[in-house]
Amino acid sequence: MNSAKRYLWDHKQTKDDHVGKIAAKDDNFSLDLVVAYDKHQAIGYKGKLPWNIPEDLSHFKELTTGHVVIMGRKTFESIGRTLPDRINIVVSQSMWQSMYRHRSQDKREKETNKTINPKKNTSENEKDKDNQNRKIPGTVVKGNEALIIRCLEDLQELLRNEVFLGKKHFIIGGRSLYKWSIPFVHTMYITEIEGVYPADTYFPAFDQSLFTRTVTRKKEGNPPFAYVKYTRKENERNKKDRS
Ligand SMILES: NC(=O)c1ccc[n+]([C@@H]2O[C@H](COP(=O)([O-])OP(=O)(O)OC[C@H]3O[C@@H](n4cnc5c(N)ncnc54)[C@H](OP(=O)(O)O)[C@@H]3O)[C@@H](O)[C@H]2O)c1
Repeated sequence: MNSAKRYLWDHKQTKDDHVGKIAAKDDNFSLDLVVAYDKHQAIGYKGKLPWNIPEDLSHFKELTTGHVVIMGRKTFESIGRTLPDRINIVVSQSMWQSMYRHRSQDKREKETNKTINPKKNTSENEKDKDNQNRKIPGTVVKGNEALIIRCLEDLQELLRNEVFLGKKHFIIGGRSLYKWSIPFVHTMYITEIEGVYPADTYFPAFDQSLFTRTVTRKKEGNPPFAYVKYTRKENERNKKDRS
């Protein structure tokens, strides 16, 4: 059994897990973040992006292809499919529970390496026997497959697996995942959109003094926007955000 599978088989969630403490001890736990927001840091409206900027979507694709993308369930549903040529990880208690609700512990362990197709409903996914034969969830990056994890505490352990070696790990939304990851992220790739849009979901406030801000490209157009990189200042790493 390879180590990813062993991890998934052996894993027991403890209530007092605290990923902040764990991550602080692990220098190899590296996350980056990608987001587009407007002048008010709005990121979403009615489950969708508030704007339509194809060029920014291409930029997102270029940045993340070949790597690992980690998202919340609502972002996954909003995209409506897995992102091709990337390892897709979806954080969702409800998806996890509906996949495993009626199973005995033994069955659960045997099927821990299950993947899910977002286009199918839950019962169709449960019937998908093919999934049982796959080796490690998330390692097949060609189709509509995603690895579902039930909590963010599972993420750090999972990303240590050899399958993820050499790949960047991008948090791609939504708000709760951004909020959780800001204390750990090394680089935030932010598309700053000139304009104010109707919105119901916002990027969390963060301490800009912890990061070096670099404008990498400015784009004219309707709306104008800029690609901006926030890189954590080395001496601030793991310091202020956790205090
Ligand atoms: N502008 C951008 O760059 C950008 C990027 C991404 C998304 N968005 C927008 O943001 C909106 C969606 O974001 P959102 O913040 O509402 O939702 P979200 O973070 O995508 O998803 C929230 C769900 O993720 C799961 N989740 C989150 N944290 C968890 C944790 N610690 N443990 C277990 N499960 C966890 C839960 O799923 P369960 O309820 O299933 O347990 C939760 O209900 C959409 O409008 C989308 O278009 C914008």
